[in-house]
Amino acid sequence: MSLAAPPQDPHAPRFRVRPPANWINDPNGPFRWRDRYHLFYQYNPGAPVHADVHWGHVSSADLAHWEHHAVALTPTPGGPDEAGCWSGCVVEDDGVPTAVYTGVDREHTGLGTICLARAADPADASLTDWRPLPEPVVAGPPAGLDVVMFRDPFVFRHDGRRHALVGAGHADGTPSVLLYDCDDLTDWRYLGVLLDGHDPVAAAAFGDGAVGWECPQLFTAGDGERVLVVSLWDGDPQSTGYLTGRLERSAGVGLRFAARHAGRLDQGRDFYAPAVLQETGRTLMWGWSWEARDRESAERAGWAGVLTAPRVVDAHPEDGSLRVAPAPELELLRTAEPFVTAPDRTALPEAYDLAVTAREGTTVSLLRSASGAELTVRVDPAEGTMTLDRGGWPRPGADVTAPVVARVPPGAELTVRILVDGSLYELFAGDRAMVTERVYRAADDVAELAVTGTGAEVTGWAQVPPTHG
Ligand code: FRU
Repeated sequence: MSLAAPPQDPHAPRFRVRPPANWINDPNGPFRWRDRYHLFYQYNPGAPVHADVHWGHVSSADLAHWEHHAVALTPTPGGPDEAGCWSGCVVEDDGVPTAVYTGVDREHTGLGTICLARAADPADASLTDWRPLPEPVVAGPPAGLDVVMFRDPFVFRHDGRRHALVGAGHADGTPSVLLYDCDDLTDWRYLGVLLDGHDPVAAAAFGDGAVGWECPQLFTAGDGERVLVVSLWDGDPQSTGYLTGRLERSAGVGLRFAARHAGRLDQGRDFYAPAVLQETGRTLMWGWSWEARDRESAERAGWAGVLTAPRVVDAHPEDGSLRVAPAPELELLRTAEPFVTAPDRTALPEAYDLAVTAREGTTVSLLRSASGAELTVRVDPAEGTMTLDRGGWPRPGADVTAPVVARVPPGAELTVRILVDGSLYELFAGDRAMVTERVYRAADDVAELAVTGTGAEVTGWAQVPPTHG
């Protein structure tokens, strides 16, 4: 089934990955196999709430047009994942695509197990049939460690050997990433703590709010540095952070992460648990954007959550700061002709891709309410800011009307990209900052573009179903 069937619900994204109904959270195991991208996700097929988590599955030849597949992983009654197939990754193991994931049993206390499932037929490009191993390969956290949260394996190669990261939280409230050697995927050896919340670079950037780091991910930047991504959890998901640095040999542990820079990954409030796919020459990233509305609204709508558009991520070599841009393949969703090519006032389509280059303070207005409130993106190159002001569309939680500010180095001009698909707003400032937020418009809101700012260049395309694929 194509993802592009027009939904009745104006809040429902049409072009981003989400199941036709019910619950989605983290992206899992992005994986390229026989010229197709496979993407899995945390999925409750039964209700739009977080429970009974399976792995949903989509695939794509081009990152723009996605096809749904049958559920890949289902909790096995009496098995180590009977209460949920939680997050993990997919790697090739001796020619066989293998899911390495978190198993949660009935007694779940925060401590997962690490489970494997192998593709039944590696020759099948659609990878629809997965066979879980009956026993976990890691039954719980390492003996002797005071770990109270343990989940989300991420497998990577270093120095010719396969290693894995696992997200953890300790009894005293310190979050950490644990390191394993798993060159043989069925034989894991704990090496030590790769990094924890006491690291001064991490503590300065993330504060001390998190008691666990979920979904650790690692990729290599263009200059060879490593970027470690963690999701900050304080009992509930909060936000995401990244650290740029090196993997260093260390006595006892084997490896430690020597960070030189850290920061928030996304400056918005609705981006979490990203997963990366390292390709030759670039790294792709998807995040989960949760519903920023009450549970009853999601239950009425019958669906909750969406994955973001894929981003290309990297680090700026000079200071290790994040480099991020929407994947170029998203341009396949653009109409042949733009709907706007100048700073005119014009109606906005349901889903669009807008590029604005500002040379002085420029305000891009995207929504107007019946009472006259405006949702704006203010771009100020001299100040180096992109500010989302959605005060008229307050978001539940803290700081309900506070503008969201993304900072970039000041310059003569600043180009922003604005991707809007239903209630999902994804903003990019230059190649340096992203803001992901959910905005639920009222039936009488007017979605009209108005740009004020001398010398601004504006081009916008409606997003439409790709005509191939
Ligand atoms: C992150 C997370 C993971 C866990 C999964 C459960 O959002 O809590 O740590 O594996 O979701 O669905």
